[in-house]
Amino acid sequence: MQVWNDYLSQNKQRFLDELLDLLRIPSVSADSKYKGDVARCAEAVKQAMLDAGADKAEICPTSGHPIVYGEKMIDPSLPTVLVYGHYDVQPPDPLELWHSGPFEPVIKDEKIYARGACDDKGQMFMHVKALEMMTKTNTLPCNVKLMIEGEEEVGSSNLGKFLEDNKEKLKADIVLISDTSMISMEHPSLETGLRGLAYMEVEVTGPNRDLHSGVYGGAVANPVNILCKMIASLHDENNHITIPGFYDKVQSLGDADRKALNEAPFDLSDYKKDLGVNEVWGEKGYTTLERTGIRPTLDVNGIWGGYTGEGAKTVLPSKANAKISMRLVPNQTSDEITELFTKHFQSIAPDYVTVKVSAHHGGEPVVTPTDSVAYKAAAKAIQTSFGKDPIPTRGGGSIPIVALFESVLGLKTVLLGFGLDNDNIHSPNEKYDVFNYFKGIETIPYFHKYFAEMSK
Ligand code: BES
Ligand code: MN
Ligand code: MN
Repeated sequence: MQVWNDYLSQNKQRFLDELLDLLRIPSVSADSKYKGDVARCAEAVKQAMLDAGADKAEICPTSGHPIVYGEKMIDPSLPTVLVYGHYDVQPPDPLELWHSGPFEPVIKDEKIYARGACDDKGQMFMHVKALEMMTKTNTLPCNVKLMIEGEEEVGSSNLGKFLEDNKEKLKADIVLISDTSMISMEHPSLETGLRGLAYMEVEVTGPNRDLHSGVYGGAVANPVNILCKMIASLHDENNHITIPGFYDKVQSLGDADRKALNEAPFDLSDYKKDLGVNEVWGEKGYTTLERTGIRPTLDVNGIWGGYTGEGAKTVLPSKANAKISMRLVPNQTSDEITELFTKHFQSIAPDYVTVKVSAHHGGEPVVTPTDSVAYKAAAKAIQTSFGKDPIPTRGGGSIPIVALFESVLGLKTVLLGFGLDNDNIHSPNEKYDVFNYFKGIETIPYFHKYFAEMSK
């Protein structure tokens, strides 16, 4: 629509400057030393909602970081879109690998570099700016509610209760989220699924204290060696996961669905080149797109034990630890997989060590429908702004709250993400292309328009 194009082109620089201001706030949810900054960021989001024309915006305290809720209700007989996003970010370390400060955003080669640029401040803020565009031009076609949380990166552990306690307030027809990626700007796509997560921590204990590795080495089991062996045994020679029962509930896709999934444009040699690897790795019998989209995984996320400081210290450590994540697909559940892992890991522990297994936060996998009005509205919005139909894809990441939107609020979700897989989210030098930011702001109002029209 011409009014939207005009509004966007007249306000581009300000839209960018406002995002940069938000990126300067180090809202790291995982680290309590940033608690004040997280609170400050919530205030900034609330103010941005009010500036965008929301009738109401409030900070909702939780036992962790606050949720920011805002709404613009124009007519109860019109559909309501509930926008979800998160203003918290991952810790920026390792700091020395950043080319510029993680909280000192810079624009280089038309890309915004900062922690949160893509995940999820940049993408969340597109919705605030899209709301502004619609309210200031008197063209808002439906009601909009925004729920922007501050604990997504630490498992959204207080958000489930917030949904339970605020069913009336959060009443809507659809949840709209921009926190996923597209294949590329030449090949716009819509994710139609997210993987679930089970996240474990293990501790292997050998002797009751650290020992001299010469005096005792060779005679007492080294827990680091044992842990490595145990972890190595969790995949077989075909890279299948060996935990008994692990695949029992995995929904396998029919040939037609697998074929469709593999028709998405994907260049293996570009993929390898981008990552600096000579070969890809994964479960035998599946393509790379299937390995990240429809198959479950098990990965060590961190491992420690013994001496890791400067120089060499000869020691046979008493303990070894690891953090292990499993990405889940329908119809695996986080509780079941947690239990299977725990039992199996205990059972493979040799007598010379003791093993402690504990679980961190998890989340359930989801698949979003492609035959719904909401999906069609999103596809048409992309067709309008990109001039191309979006390709449906299955995302590899997790947004645990999405399953709860359905089970607690009875709401389906549309994943209208504008990130790219190589945006370095959770890594040093996270970036978001300026083009994608504006493309998102341009596309979102069309979703509202088509969703309102097609819901009639
Ligand atoms: N936005 C991501 C999830 C994502 C990224 C989905 C790219 C699809 C494509 C989200 O912020 C995230 O990082 N989620 C975590 C899970 C959470 C429990 C910490 C994840 O996937 O590791
Ligand atoms: Mn995110
Ligand atoms: Mn994230």
